[in-house]
Amino acid sequence: MYSLLIRNAVIARPDGTTLEGDLACEHGLIARIDAAIDVSAEETIDAQGALLLPGVIDTHVHFREPGKEYKEDLASGSRAAAAGGVTSFLEMPNTEPPTIDQASLDFKLARAAETCAVNYGFFIGATPTNLDAVNRVAPVAGIKVFMGCSTGGLLVDKDEDLERIFAGGERLIAVHAEDETRMHARRRLFADRRDSAVHSEIRDNLCALRATERALAFSKRHRRPLHILHLSTHEEIELLRRDKPAWVKAEVIPHHLFLNVKDYERLGNRAQMNPPIRAPEDNAALWQALQDGVIDFLGSDHAPHTLAEKRLEYPNSPSGMPGVETSLPLMLTHMTAGKCTLAELQRWMCSGPAEHYRIPNKGSLLEGWDADLTLVDIRASKPVRNEELFTKAKWSPYEGWKLVGWPLYTVVGGQVAFARGQIRDGVRGRPLAFVN
Ligand code: DOR
Ligand code: ZN
Repeated sequence: MYSLLIRNAVIARPDGTTLEGDLACEHGLIARIDAAIDVSAEETIDAQGALLLPGVIDTHVHFREPGKEYKEDLASGSRAAAAGGVTSFLEMPNTEPPTIDQASLDFKLARAAETCAVNYGFFIGATPTNLDAVNRVAPVAGIKVFMGCSTGGLLVDKDEDLERIFAGGERLIAVHAEDETRMHARRRLFADRRDSAVHSEIRDNLCALRATERALAFSKRHRRPLHILHLSTHEEIELLRRDKPAWVKAEVIPHHLFLNVKDYERLGNRAQMNPPIRAPEDNAALWQALQDGVIDFLGSDHAPHTLAEKRLEYPNSPSGMPGVETSLPLMLTHMTAGKCTLAELQRWMCSGPAEHYRIPNKGSLLEGWDADLTLVDIRASKPVRNEELFTKAKWSPYEGWKLVGWPLYTVVGGQVAFARGQIRDGVRGRPLAFVN
């Protein structure tokens, strides 16, 4: 007797081939994968030929708790994750108060244990003065460094502070790479503009390139593991194509793949984010870089703000867009259009994140591994509808886009967390482990 049996699924293997068959779960693990499993289970799901994937590991979300729970909290954010096929997330430290010491981390861990429908991990934020804490507190996915300011007050942009952080430990450093000095200067240059599109001119490609170059130089000097988050420009890609040590990894987010400056006309400040959306040629360079491994993995950078906030006149409008529940359908739509393979998609969204953040036992459908799964329908297309979203923000830059690959079921540690449009109350994820 298994706890959960999923029958008649098209089961994704790590190499991108598939098996038509059944998958059984027991004690939170994948107990068996086979062409036919004739053992009963407490709950059986007939997949009717739907595609069974490893649950997505979203490497980049902002769930706003504590401090801005009206935008999102760990409960609502994790439900949105489950609805989007995301079974584990890594959450950023720019909350209020920020996550910069053991106490603020413990608060999130405790809240997450009480309320999160999926598995959770957190970054510790670097400040100019918390070097001891960032290297000591646990468990963390890594140290987040905002080299340019964004939502919240976290910022480390001085050479001597960055040098101390890169020199003073071994943990991986994840950077938001935008050059603070250049941004400041350009803000003055465009001070009279109020249109959303100016955002991409102020925080231009060179802002990102300069900071990425700097982070790369620090990382090389100290052989320090570095994740460059939300790569957005073709210039950064060209840099990494020439010079990317083995200990450096790069992330991309759907907003920079699927949106560009033309979308300001349609979305206005809703499209405002940091780093900003770029030109179509940057979209193309990012897709190419994903394809040939210059970019290693994908996160959503789910950064919810209310529509009322987004309607404020620029620059009073906040930066960031929701995304945790649309990233998998967006990528599956891309895949079914023949533009990437199932192996690539799994590597970018499941096994790659697990490997690069050293999360054991997740990211692939293998016997004995954690039963974090999502069963998706890649045959039917359905538009993104704001009112159906689980994020408190209740809007998406992709509203109206017809996507395939919406999750039918999402399973977290062998428990059904999301089933046919509904969250199952009471399912709780677990803290992620990060091994060295
Ligand atoms: O657009 C952004 N929004 N970029 C960030 O770096 C932070 C995020 C947020 O927290 O709102
Ligand atoms: Zn972010």
